[in-house]
Amino acid sequence: MPAMAAHTVEAAMDAFPDPLLVVDACRQVRLANAGASRLFRTSHADLVGAPVDLFLPESSFDLGGPLSSGDEQLPHPRTLELSARRTGGQQFPVELSVLDVDVAGVADLAVERLAFISVRDISGRTRGSDAAVRLATIVQSSQDAIIGKSVDGTVTSWNPGAARLYGYSAEEAIGRSVREFLTPQQSNQEDEVLARVLSGERAEPYEAQRTRRNGVVIDVSISMSSILASDGQIIGFSTAARDISERKRAEARFSTLLEAAPDAVLGVRSNGHIALLNAAAERLFGYSRDELVGRQIENLVPDAARSRHHEYRQAYAADPVPRRMGIDRELAGRRRDGSTFPAEISLSSLLTEEGLLVLASVRDVTERQEAMAEQERLQVQAQTARLEHQLHQSQRLESLGQLAGGVAHDFNNLLSVILNYSLFVRESVTEAQGAHPEEPWETVAGDIAQIERAAHRAAELTSRLLTFGRRDVIAPRVLDLNEVLRAVEPILQRTLGERVRLVMELNPDTPPVLADPGQLEQVVVNLAVNARDAMEGEGVLTMSTRPAGDRSTLTVRDNGPGMEPGVRQRAFDPFFTTKPKGEGSGLGLATVYGIVQQAQGAIEIESAPGHGTSIVVLLPASDQPTAPVPTDPVAPPPEIQMARVLLVEDEPAVRELIMRLLKHEGFAIDAAENGADALERVARDPVDLLITDVVMPGMLGTEVAQRALLLRPELRVLFISGYAHPALAVRGTPDETFVLLEKPFTGPELLAKIREVLSAAVAPTGAAGRGAVPE
Ligand SMILES: Nc1ncnc2c1ncn2[C@@H]1O[C@H](COP(=O)(O)OP(=O)(O)OP(=O)(O)O)[C@@H](O)[C@H]1O
Ligand SMILES: [Mg+2]
Repeated sequence: MPAMAAHTVEAAMDAFPDPLLVVDACRQVRLANAGASRLFRTSHADLVGAPVDLFLPESSFDLGGPLSSGDEQLPHPRTLELSARRTGGQQFPVELSVLDVDVAGVADLAVERLAFISVRDISGRTRGSDAAVRLATIVQSSQDAIIGKSVDGTVTSWNPGAARLYGYSAEEAIGRSVREFLTPQQSNQEDEVLARVLSGERAEPYEAQRTRRNGVVIDVSISMSSILASDGQIIGFSTAARDISERKRAEARFSTLLEAAPDAVLGVRSNGHIALLNAAAERLFGYSRDELVGRQIENLVPDAARSRHHEYRQAYAADPVPRRMGIDRELAGRRRDGSTFPAEISLSSLLTEEGLLVLASVRDVTERQEAMAEQERLQVQAQTARLEHQLHQSQRLESLGQLAGGVAHDFNNLLSVILNYSLFVRESVTEAQGAHPEEPWETVAGDIAQIERAAHRAAELTSRLLTFGRRDVIAPRVLDLNEVLRAVEPILQRTLGERVRLVMELNPDTPPVLADPGQLEQVVVNLAVNARDAMEGEGVLTMSTRPAGDRSTLTVRDNGPGMEPGVRQRAFDPFFTTKPKGEGSGLGLATVYGIVQQAQGAIEIESAPGHGTSIVVLLPASDQPTAPVPTDPVAPPPEIQMARVLLVEDEPAVRELIMRLLKHEGFAIDAAENGADALERVARDPVDLLITDVVMPGMLGTEVAQRALLLRPELRVLFISGYAHPALAVRGTPDETFVLLEKPFTGPELLAKIREVLSAAVAPTGAAGRGAVPE
């Protein structure tokens, strides 16, 4: 090239249609033509002297190309495609032709070498319809590393993605053999793929490792395709590589997790193909991994469910949120040998590049089901044992009740005699005292008082025994439990003492119950006294009521020491007490039990040591309106001594006692030992009042009364009994008009009852106390 001045050169350059830059070894723009100013939208002055990288930021070319000098044949310019930048920052694709020139002879340049760069804006090309150009642009802008190479492996193109991924610039890579970037192992793999592609096989994407310029090894997924000449000959290959290191790491984490999972886990594609499984799944189903991957999941489903499995799969894919499978049906898995096992399956899903992957975690629940069956069996056994125990308990209490009732009956007769004869003795003593004041009558009177006290105490016990034995005569009414409790509250508070706080929690919705008010009070008082004793006089006692289905509950709760299981089990037994001798008779809870049973209710003890005691009484609710408790009709005591009385009593001691009592009061009294004898007398002589025992051999008192009334309809009847016999009750409830005197009774009590029965004739209702005998 002949030597010339710079400005002359520039002038010549201006004539060039293409933008031209001349750059020195320091990458500084030395010369630029008008085309360059137009292209980069900048003034000539701003262009010249500026670093070329301002306009061609991606250009990493150096001025190391072969020199063209003098008359030598011209070297080929290098061509590069990259993106250029205008002063405003706008980027656009350009194609560069770079030629290194020796300018040692150009005096005023004072440099030896320069690069002549012709810049061609190729954005127009890209916009055009030329598919190749568009492809080139795609390649340029692709995130993937796209490399072109000849059949012998020389790199022919290297996109910015490749520069980013591998760390080598296009200039560094183009012209070199790909092997230079590969380890021997990586080369071998590459050769194998190449061989397959050359033999005409379609190359599936494969995974490989590559080493970056900085030595870091990365995982890539590579797809390779061949570049064909127009004659169909393969003239090169293009590979697109994508960094999958992150994915690989995630996969590694995932598979570590998968293998660590104690349950069998299978990954299933939406078409039912098994994509992955862990070792636990291999063990559970008896297949190896290779045998299952790619096969249908149906292979692991028992025959019965197989045909519907794809439906379930679709249903899950429509809403793939984690959930338990088969909530409403039994699930099972099928092993390789055809055997099945009950399974519990949880599902979750994973969106992968290949679509939805459903992860099924399968657990063999054979053992659990067996354990559950065993547990159920044990529960049934325990329940049976409990019921048997309950039955046994109530049978025991029932027979105790019968025994107690029988004993009480006989005791009552004896006590009537003891009490009344001691009364006679007392009267005799009083008379004798007048006659012989010098004798020690005081001592005798004291002794008699002792006998009477003991007899009264015995009568009290006998009456509690009767209650326990459910032989009491009761008069149930429809009662409001809350009212009953409110009525006894003052008495209770007095009984409990000041240091026991009585809390009433009365639920107004508690339905009324059918019960005997006096007995109900007895229940409440007994339970309260027990609680007081347990709390040793200090604590909180809560009485609460509430509805419970077709029953009403009354709960008496204390914060005392509670009961040991052994005490709880025997607490209802008559005479069972933990109190010191003389302090408790052990009949409190027994009577409560009897009362509740007679009212067709139930009673439960909830108690444990250290947790206080709750006694829960359940009584059948009544749908009848509550009735006020009637007060006894007050009638003036009439002159009744003129009445003719017939007594029927099989027990001689009692018979004689009553005869003596009534004769003493001036009655005309006759006695019979049994029903037949009595009826004969009724037929023969006029009788105003029939006093009859209920339980007698031969004919019951009720029948005697019935028959006697047929003979003398105006007859009054008074029953006397040691206990309420079923014959006296209509469905357990005694007739309202029926008058009974319970044994033991004293003379005055007998007289009061007789007065009541006889005065009924003058009572306004006329019928009350008439002594009508129930059916
Ligand atoms: N609220 C309670 N807390 C702890 N133990 C109780 C309670 N109620 C009853 N018991 C236990 O049950 C036993 C039997 O009670 P029950 O009322 O039948 O007889 P008692 O209270 O011992 O004597 P009685 O009531 O005849 O005077 C008591 O001795 C006591 O051991
Ligand atoms: Mg008690």
